[in-house]
Amino acid sequence: MSRRRLIAGNWKMNKTPQETAAFVEDFAPRVASFFEIEVLLIPPYTSLEPASRQLVGTSIALGAQDLHSEPSGAYTGAISAQMLAACGCRYVLVGHSERRHVFGDDDATVRRKLGSALDGRLLPILCIGETIDERRGGATPEILTRQLTVGLDGLDAGAMKSIVVAYEPVWAIGTGETATPEQAQEAIAGIRAWLSGRFDEPTAGRARILYGGSVKPGNAAELMRLPDVDGVLVGGASLDPEAFAAIAQAGRSVVESE
Ligand code: PGA
Repeated sequence: MSRRRLIAGNWKMNKTPQETAAFVEDFAPRVASFFEIEVLLIPPYTSLEPASRQLVGTSIALGAQDLHSEPSGAYTGAISAQMLAACGCRYVLVGHSERRHVFGDDDATVRRKLGSALDGRLLPILCIGETIDERRGGATPEILTRQLTVGLDGLDAGAMKSIVVAYEPVWAIGTGETATPEQAQEAIAGIRAWLSGRFDEPTAGRARILYGGSVKPGNAAELMRLPDVDGVLVGGASLDPEAFAAIAQAGRSVVESE
């Protein structure tokens, strides 16, 4: 099993292009020799193009936070996969909890966006997760199954080579309340088992599945040591170069200790 750990920083609606430049200048040297893991920055749209120029010559990848499901047309305010790829993006988030709950992206929309990302040769990171009420009601497996079933509808095992899944319990995002290692492992092992049933065992064994929700330098290593957790999707703590580099370092030490 050789799933390369992915340490992704989702900045949400934070940082101007100037602030992005200052971050990259500070952050890039800190992770310059981290070849064992993959580090990904996901700034807002307006920072993508300048960041991609600044990241040339580093091993840091670039991604976007969302995209539109259509390749072009009369969709005021929207951004297509092709535009993102042309700005140097390799990855794109689809179905992030804030897209689902603040902007109303439903599972069918998420599936269309994921298809558009694949068509545009981007690697989608499909984000799924339950709310606190769903967890309390014992509905977590059912919710994750629905989000996976619709989110990956109609795809074959080959497509999974280009897709990352991120398990982000809604109640853990931006709340400071991280899932316990047991909760994270249980949910992510469940996702892998689902992928095995839906596709096949080798496909499930190869798929990278991240944990997200209040990941910090202090809990990143513990989470990444879990057998099924292949990296982290970090919000708040990725805004600070020192903290995000410490999280990447945690991923690297976990790989080195294996
Ligand atoms: P957080 O956000 O790390 O601030 O909880 C995670 C995310 O939204 O991806």
